[in-house]
Amino acid sequence: MIAPSILNANNMNLGQDIKQAIENGIERFHIDIMDGHFVPNLSYGPELVKDFKVAYPLTEAEIHLMSNNLETTLPLFVKAGADLIELHLEATDKVEYWLDYLHESKIRAGIAINPDTPVQEIKPYMNKIDQLLIMTVKPGFGGQKFHSESPDKIKQAKELIAQSGKNIPIEVDGGIDNKTAPLSKNAGAEIFVSGSYIFKKGSIAHQIAELNEALR
Ligand code: DX5
Ligand code: ZN
Repeated sequence: MIAPSILNANNMNLGQDIKQAIENGIERFHIDIMDGHFVPNLSYGPELVKDFKVAYPLTEAEIHLMSNNLETTLPLFVKAGADLIELHLEATDKVEYWLDYLHESKIRAGIAINPDTPVQEIKPYMNKIDQLLIMTVKPGFGGQKFHSESPDKIKQAKELIAQSGKNIPIEVDGGIDNKTAPLSKNAGAEIFVSGSYIFKKGSIAHQIAELNEALR
């Protein structure tokens, strides 16, 4: 599955770009929320998610929550209608509490890990996550280069998940294009977040087709 990240789309064309991606088969968007504290950048607020779900109730809104102020930020995105929220393992010492909170709110829960966080650290939470996001760049900005050691990390995560007997899909995010997506897929990733490659290279239809082709 391809989950476009709208972070690097042109905000003046955002509605049109989202519509085009949906017309080209996209069923989930990856919405990057940055709090200016956990990462040195700011992005969107809950109103965007709310408007998105009103316009496209059948398309999933996956929230990549780059925030360490979860008491304030996380409930806002629950209320806004997120389908899935991914919180960073590095951002809180109450991971379990928030995973439970999400499930009690009937929202799927994911954990995101930074490039320098070992995969073993997800072990205690395997029973409580619906998805694992392996960051393939340092979070904060779009348009960065895929970290070349990522496929090894994906393989390790895949093994850990297999040992647990759970069905937890692995998602990759950062520098994903028609070269790095197949590398990640071969290592075990199933969900591919892609921002600049889809929204900054001209035709969205063409870029989605290229990425689909590379992942075939
Ligand atoms: C980075 C974000 C991304 C990223 C994707 O903090 O999590 O989702 O911007 O954009 P590209 O595909 O441009 O790396
Ligand atoms: Zn992201």
